[in-house]
Parts: sequence; structure tokens; C-alpha cells
Amino acid sequence: MYGSKTEDPIVKYYDETVGTSGKHEVAWYLTKAHSFGDPILDMACGTGRMSILLAKEGYSIVAFDRSEGMLTRFHEKLSREPIEIKRRVQIFQQDMDNFTFKERFNTIICVDAFFHNLFEQEALNCLKCVSQHLTYKGRFFFNVPNPNQDFLQKCLDSQGKIWTTKNIYPLENSGTTILVEEASAADIQAQLIFTKLRFTCSDSEGNIIERNESSWTTRYMYQDQYLTLFETSGLEVELLVGTYQNEPVSPTSQLIFQLKL
Ligand SMILES: C[S@@+](CC[C@H](N)C(=O)[O-])C[C@H]1O[C@@H](n2cnc3c(N)ncnc32)[C@H](O)[C@@H]1O
Repeated sequence: MYGSKTEDPIVKYYDETVGTSGKHEVAWYLTKAHSFGDPILDMACGTGRMSILLAKEGYSIVAFDRSEGMLTRFHEKLSREPIEIKRRVQIFQQDMDNFTFKERFNTIICVDAFFHNLFEQEALNCLKCVSQHLTYKGRFFFNVPNPNQDFLQKCLDSQGKIWTTKNIYPLENSGTTILVEEASAADIQAQLIFTKLRFTCSDSEGNIIERNESSWTTRYMYQDQYLTLFETSGLEVELLVGTYQNEPVSPTSQLIFQLKL
């Protein structure tokens, strides 16, 4: 399970490492929020990376996530914001394949998280919940990896035993750096990827001060599989792009969907 506790390194270092926002990604979601407005539902919101940003733009947000650890970080971050921002954000602990809120939303987002629906039935339940919470003029936006044969082959070959460097991130004002390495394995039949991330913190002199791992499972699906699920759950694709610069889908891009009822 994805970082359920605050001590889990993925929770502890999310905002400084893998959760570092790309400028095109942020701009893309902000533009969508400007077009479709609030209320906004931020599904699998994590530490509130997108929610806080959107609240700062003046939007009302309902946000939820399954992980207590990620939500604890979100609450800590929000507590440091001015009262008018805090008032715009409501946070809940919920599963994305089974949620109920009283209101419907003009913008629903699920950023870097839909692939945590591990079975087809979970993904379908999640989409059905979305269609029950979307207004007729509203839109649902989410991104998933486009299954890449090279990556899948590497997972099969390495069986989760070969570490590759993702990046080295500096921690602000401390001289500490965090090296993030990844090792993945795949179950092709179940379309599952088993990911381990290793976080190595070093001080300004290069001495290792901490090394810890997080792990989780995600499910990849092909474009056609998504289209079938959308049809069953009453959602229609309005836009599909491969990147946050609106480039077309390619073997190395993501799948970024904009859906309507
Ligand atoms: C990569 S993080 C993305 C967080 C956030 N959307 C962002 O863009 O920073 C994935 C998130 O999905 C959450 N998650 C995983 N499975 C979930 C589920 N079934 N229901 C709700 N949240 C889930 C994890 O706890 C984690 O916070």
C-alpha cells in the first residue's frame, strides 16, 4: 500500500522528490480549472500538491486520499496557509473506487494516481463514482502511463532487483541531498507493476545519513481498455493528449484524458 504512515519515505520525501511539480503539468491543470471552475474534486490528492495550488487560485476544493500518512502531510501544509485558503479546502480519507459526496463537481482531477486501481473492477467502480459526481457541464481529468514495451521488458528482465537512478534532489537550506532509485518488476498477465523506491539521504559532505525504501503496486492498461471502461461508466472522451504540452500520444508519452458525461 502507498505510504500509509508518516515515517514511510515516500510520504516523508514526496514533496521534495517525486512529487516535485512540473511547470507544464501545473499550468495544464490550472488552465482546466479556469475553464470549468469549481467546486473541484481532487481524487487521491496525496499531500495536497494540486489542491493547495488550486485553493490559492481561489477555487473551492474537496480532496480525498486513502493514505493517512499523505493526508497528515496535507493537513500540516494547509495549517501553514492563511485562513482564507484553509477555508476553501475540505479533506477526507476515502478510497477512490468507493466515494460519496453530497455535491457534484465542475472539475474532477486524479493526478498521478488512477493506476492505483489494481483490478478492472476497481477502475470501473472508480469511473462510476466519477460519473455520479460530475456535473453535466463538468469535466474529469486524469493521467496514466502509456504502457511502454521497453519499460515492461526492463521490469521483466530486472525482476525488481536492478536499481536505476531516478534523480538526486537537494533539500532546501540544509545541504542534504536525496538520491532516489527505482527497481520494478512486472506481472504481464495481471498488468501489474511492482515498484520499489530507495531514498538515500546524504549530508553536505556526502556521508549517508539515512537509507530507506517504499514500495507499491500499480496497474497499467492499454488505451482500448480505458475506452471500454469509459463507455460502461457513462463517460465520453473529449480530449486525449500524450503530454501536458498537448502533444499527441506516442509510445513514450502518457495518456492524459479529459472526459465528460
Ligand atoms: C503519486 S501519489 C499522487 C498524489 C497527488 N495526486 C499528486 O499529484 O501529488 C498517488 C496517491 O494515490 C493515493 N492512493 C492510492 N490508492 C488509492 C485509493 N484506492 N484511493 C484513494 N487514494 C489512493 C496514494 O495514497 C497517493 O497519495
